[in-house]
Amino acid sequence: MTSTDYAPPPERERWGSRMGLILAMAGNAVGLGNFLRFPNEAVKAGSGFMTAYFISLLILGIPLMWMEWGIGRRGGVRGHSTCPGMFQSLTKMRFVRYLGAIGVVMPLLIVIYYVYIESWTLGYAYNAVTGALGEATAAGETSGFFKTYLGAGGGFLDMEDLNGSWPAYSFFGVTIVVNLWVLSKGLSKGIETVAKIGMPVLVLCAVALVVRVLTLPVDPESGRNVLDGLGIYWTPEWSRLFSSEFGPTIWLAAAGQIFFTLSVGSGAINTYASYLTKDDDVALTGLATVSTNEFCEVVLGGTLAIPAAYLFFGMDRVTEAAQSNMGLAFNTMPQIFASMPLVGGEASGTTGVAIFGTIWFGLLFVAGITSSLALSQPTMAFMQDTMGLTRKKAALVVGGIIILCVQPVILMPGVLDEVDYFAGTFGLVLFSTIEVVLFMWVFGAGKAWAEIHQGSDIKIPRLFKFVMTYVTPLALITMLCAWGYNNALPILNFEVDPSGNAYSEAGKTGAMTGRMLMLGLLAFFLILVFVASKRGHYDNLMKEGDDS
Ligand code: PHE
Repeated sequence: MTSTDYAPPPERERWGSRMGLILAMAGNAVGLGNFLRFPNEAVKAGSGFMTAYFISLLILGIPLMWMEWGIGRRGGVRGHSTCPGMFQSLTKMRFVRYLGAIGVVMPLLIVIYYVYIESWTLGYAYNAVTGALGEATAAGETSGFFKTYLGAGGGFLDMEDLNGSWPAYSFFGVTIVVNLWVLSKGLSKGIETVAKIGMPVLVLCAVALVVRVLTLPVDPESGRNVLDGLGIYWTPEWSRLFSSEFGPTIWLAAAGQIFFTLSVGSGAINTYASYLTKDDDVALTGLATVSTNEFCEVVLGGTLAIPAAYLFFGMDRVTEAAQSNMGLAFNTMPQIFASMPLVGGEASGTTGVAIFGTIWFGLLFVAGITSSLALSQPTMAFMQDTMGLTRKKAALVVGGIIILCVQPVILMPGVLDEVDYFAGTFGLVLFSTIEVVLFMWVFGAGKAWAEIHQGSDIKIPRLFKFVMTYVTPLALITMLCAWGYNNALPILNFEVDPSGNAYSEAGKTGAMTGRMLMLGLLAFFLILVFVASKRGHYDNLMKEGDDS
């Protein structure tokens, strides 16, 4: 039996063009991770980071990208756009469809807090345009502004003081409505169109800011030069990388960043790849996605916040700002914009915050939305294909889940960090490990290699077959053990919180709530997969003799 026996239903969605697919995949990968998470992680880890980063890219990022495209397209050709069906297309063992449920739940868990942060960027862009952000910056009030924006409770909302939150709530409302509206338009008309407009705009905005930063003059007082700021994380310090004190932290930070930024290990890439046809190229287009993301991350994301902050404020301030997750982007950047001349040598002050701030937060919003659409699409596809809902109803279900689950994220401290840790960091490694074992070992390395090369425009160097079969799984399992033992376990036991500090009482409650949320959603989707199984949804994958 050949795979053509599984002619997809005629209504199956498809990408409109190859360019559209590339931009949508790039939009999926390029996100807040590139511009917010990357600089923070790089500064926190320090010198040696980029070495670990590029090695992780080669042995984890690129191989996993190819595998997820392969798994996704294979499932899609057989009519399945989400991981339960995709996994079932690799083996007849029934339990794998339940493992696949993680590939729907995880992106959904990530999108719950991701959309919230995305809405801050919209709120900040708005406040940059109106001049409110500029005034706060001029008065040295950027961190106060951040707290006021989010609500009174010291960064998060206070239960007693919900009033302080209306701006954050309103911009969240607008953001979620825009997301759902695009999703309800469908793959090609919605997601692809947004990526086609959004990605070029994003790159242009980022390039404009990078050019401005790189052409800044030497600081006359301190003699600091903008490019020296890059040394903070580019210096390849091997001794640090292999020291028992710093080594593990740097490697985990670098590898964790690779997973998050490339969107691998969540199921989101798989779902996008499922809308390809059997002979569409996977190898070259997958690589194009990686390259675009790395350009946006290393060249654009890496050349903005860090070198500019170093030039104006010096090393100590950069390190300090990077300790808090949003410090560089929301507090330090507005201050940089006020100090940065538009042209010539004069600090641009409030005008600079208005102009540069609008570009910066606007580009963050665009980067965010193309990723939040990708994070929502697995649930959309699951509701449509597996549960038989129409596109509009599916969008309403996705919206309903996000709006409901974001409440604890907004209202309680600790929930966001907990979910980000287990879904957005540890979970990505766990799910990648499951994928690699299934694809390269259960399905088989030979067949997997052939699957990736089906219709391919390039031949991947054979060395990568070895890497994918042995190196990637070994590296993943090592990380899983090290990470699970050193980081995940102490967090699970409430010894330290995800940022390494002791849990406060409120933080503990938040963490518990976060865990209940994660387990609840997982249970919900496991039940839905069970129901779908009973309805025979996976039967077409269980026919004898399909090992094509
Ligand atoms: N890659 C996205 C970013 O850099 C986030 C993301 C993670 C998107 C996982 C989809 C899946 O912001």
